[in-house]
Order: sequence, then C-alpha cells, then structure tokens
Amino acid sequence: MDSTFFMCKPDAVERGLVGEIISRIERKGLVLVRAELRQIDEATAKAHYSEHDGKSFFDDLVSFIIRSKVFVTEVAGPKDTWAVVRTLIGETNPAKAAPGTIRGDFAVDIAENLVHGSDSAQAAARELALFFPEQ
Ligand code: RTP
Ligand code: MG
Repeated sequence: MDSTFFMCKPDAVERGLVGEIISRIERKGLVLVRAELRQIDEATAKAHYSEHDGKSFFDDLVSFIIRSKVFVTEVAGPKDTWAVVRTLIGETNPAKAAPGTIRGDFAVDIAENLVHGSDSAQAAARELALFFPEQ
C-alpha cells in the first residue's frame, strides 16, 4: 500500500463537511489508515507550509490553518495515492475547480479551500512524518 497525507482544514470542520469529504475518499477506493481531529500549533503550521514562507499569503495561511481544529489523516491506496487524492481535491482556487471535485463542489474562496493533500511522494513522506511522528 502507498500512503499520503490528507487534511480537512478548519473551514471543512466548521461547516460540517468532514463526513462528506471523507466519504468521497472512501468511495474512490482509498482507505483511512490514521485519522484524528486535532488543533495544530503555529510551529507545526509554519513547518507544514514552509515552502510558502515569504509569500504574501503566508501569514494568513498559517492563521487560517490554526483557527480551529483540523481532521488529519493518513490515506492509503495501491499506487500514487497522493496523485489520486489531488485529483479528487481539484484545483487550488475553488472558483476554477471542476464540478465533481471537493473544492469544485463545496468552495469558492482560495483561502478557504477545505482540504489539503500532499503534492508529491516526497511531500507525502515529509508531511506524514510531521503530523504522525510517533509512527
Ligand atoms: P494545499 O497545500 O493547502 O493543499 O493547497 P494547494 O497545494 O492546492 O496550493 P498551494 O500552492 O500549496 O498553496 C497553499 C495554500 O495557500 C493558499 N494560497 N493562496 N492568494 C493566493 O494567491 C494563494 N495561493 C495559495 C491556498 O489556500 C492554498 O491552499
Ligand atoms: Mg500545497
């Protein structure tokens, strides 16, 4: 099995969309290996989004992701799971994301785009180690 990191962001939890979103992951044929509703601290948020440090939206992004609890998960599938999940998620800007994708169906604002999925196999390994260090 091949794992990736997937997270429902604060807006998804606040809007009561976690069940709908995780249902889409499961119906696709992927499985939850680990999952927890969790408040992230600022240091973890900054480490997670370190590739965006220095960009205009970085501070808002960190503030947003620690605004309230997130649902962090490890998701597994047969192969290239990170890419399968990214296809289900849709484009970064929900206003442009295709209908049928999570962002395309449930969001309009680029800052509040509901979900995060690792964008490469390397990112998946790094993010799983960051959010589930004990395993
Ligand atoms: P994510 O990491 O959150 O899953 O999103 P992503 O890969 O689709 O997009 P990424 O380029 O990694 O950007 C991370 C988050 O930063 C916010 N963003 N705002 N205002 C802007 O131009 C802008 N660009 C990116 C988004 O909330 C995006 O999810
Ligand atoms: Mg990203």
